[in-house]
Amino acid sequence: MSVTPARTPTVAVVGAGSVGATTAYAALVRGSARRVALYDIDRAKVEAEVADLSHGLSFVPRGEIVGGDDIEVCRGASVVVVTAGGKQRPGQSRMELAESTVGLVRTLLPQLLEVAPDAVYLMVTNPVDVVTQAALTVSGLPPARVIGSGTVLDSARLRHEIAARVGVAEQSVHASIVGEHGDSEFPLWSAASIGGVPLLEWERATGRLGPTEREEIAEQVVTAAYRIISGKGATNYAVGLAATRIIEAVLRDEHRVLPVSTWLADYHGISDVCLSVPTLVGADGAGQRLGLPFTDDERARLRASADSIRATARRVGL
Ligand code: 2OP
Repeated sequence: MSVTPARTPTVAVVGAGSVGATTAYAALVRGSARRVALYDIDRAKVEAEVADLSHGLSFVPRGEIVGGDDIEVCRGASVVVVTAGGKQRPGQSRMELAESTVGLVRTLLPQLLEVAPDAVYLMVTNPVDVVTQAALTVSGLPPARVIGSGTVLDSARLRHEIAARVGVAEQSVHASIVGEHGDSEFPLWSAASIGGVPLLEWERATGRLGPTEREEIAEQVVTAAYRIISGKGATNYAVGLAATRIIEAVLRDEHRVLPVSTWLADYHGISDVCLSVPTLVGADGAGQRLGLPFTDDERARLRASADSIRATARRVGL
């Protein structure tokens, strides 16, 4: 049964590639939104994805999937998730995609704003921090309404690495990767905890997670996407789930703390760049950034990460 768009919170997913289709799938399976709209310029591809997704509706919480190659399918969306863009080749860094994806944002955003002027925009396309800045510049929207998926995925990878090593559930590990979603990102060890125990005290009690092991974990997280891309050509499942987690925080006005990428204004002295730090996410998009007590080393690494993003942003004329 079809429901009226005006009364139904809709998530519009732009791009029916592996990330977009998986995000739509994850949103339907998790019941993140009653209505998911998938848009792509490739009509055959998007229609096939929509048909395949619609055949699974019997097995998910109540939902609806629509889509096509007409941007009108995104009309009235509450959240627009942008996944369209070129694929990272094996060994290629996310930053190397900047020219093409920023060009795409310049074309796409004005069209999306025509049909979804009130949406919160969630950018997933890489290099996501630069793409988020481009979306902000092109759209002229308030910074709160333009969010990058940032290091929500990397933080999930971090939680998984820690959880697997100490034998606790991922859900009991609170730890974030901050900075660029890319090579200069790093774990915020000083604020991490496992079941309420500060992670930096875990070594004393258990002999695990000392400095060497922490270095190994950080390396595993930063290089994870390269390994997956070399094995299967792309990453899609975890990023799709990470995107749906952010969508839910917006649609349910959760005020959840998530390391999304947003435009910073004097965060530990860092301004005028999009990068990820733990941020409250709710119906209005990005709210307060958590004023965590970074160590001197963490503050220096965050500045270096900001510099790296700024260099690419400048290179592509932002
Ligand atoms: C990821 O980290 C490639 O950015 C993508 O999985």
